[in-house]
Amino acid sequence: MIKAHTMKGIILAGGTGTRLRPLTLVTSKQLLPIYDKPMVFYPLQTLLNAGIKDILIIVAPERAGDFLHVLGSGKEWGAKFTYEIQDKPAGLADAFRIGASFIDDGSVTMILGDNLFLGKDEEVHDAITTFTSGGRVFAREVSDARPFGVVEFDADGKVLSIEEKPTQPKSNFALIGLYIFDHQVVEIAKNLVPSARGEIEITDIHKAYLERGQLDVRMYTGEWLDTGTPSSLLKAGLLVAKAQGEKIE
Ligand code: G1P
Repeated sequence: MIKAHTMKGIILAGGTGTRLRPLTLVTSKQLLPIYDKPMVFYPLQTLLNAGIKDILIIVAPERAGDFLHVLGSGKEWGAKFTYEIQDKPAGLADAFRIGASFIDDGSVTMILGDNLFLGKDEEVHDAITTFTSGGRVFAREVSDARPFGVVEFDADGKVLSIEEKPTQPKSNFALIGLYIFDHQVVEIAKNLVPSARGEIEITDIHKAYLERGQLDVRMYTGEWLDTGTPSSLLKAGLLVAKAQGEKIE
């Protein structure tokens, strides 16, 4: 019998946001405005909409106070927020080392604090609420997959390969910033070695689950944005405004 457990959430909101300077001299990238709300409200709402209430927020030391001020205990959101400091950006997979005791023997959904999932909450909700074990990640078709983790499928939809930021992507499917893992992720993350860019890579976690025959890749068909650059920040703001029925000339 499958042990019933509660899904926990992690929002990774560390990093220094160098590509968004001088904006990120003011505060953390994930607290900058996307139209009428701080960026982190969107991934937070994505987790809350999927019923996740116990959430670890991982932040950079110099911005921890800003996050506490903006998000607080979680009570106002009907949730419980815990905070951990990421001393330096060591890669996305580092979140599972930092969050090891928080995850414990349960399952976790991690969302990136600068990723916006717009319009298809039901796909995320379904992926999370039906999850039992292994790893479950999302792919989305993009015009240029080079800046992302990339997944290649065969004709039957079976995963053939996964690569981090390939110069020549084997497909147009990016692996986007919402990851659902069981407790094995803690031990997998512990054993990772840093890549050439000096980070422990989330795609190496995907590969470990793939090798174990336990990786499920789902499609996300809504709007997805990684808001790491000035133009993507602006685009995200316009998209959100439009979704709210605002006309911006
Ligand atoms: C990271 C991941 C990459 C993923 C992307 C989604 O990239 O390494 O696999 O596709 O987030 O936003 P980074 O933000 O570190 O460039």
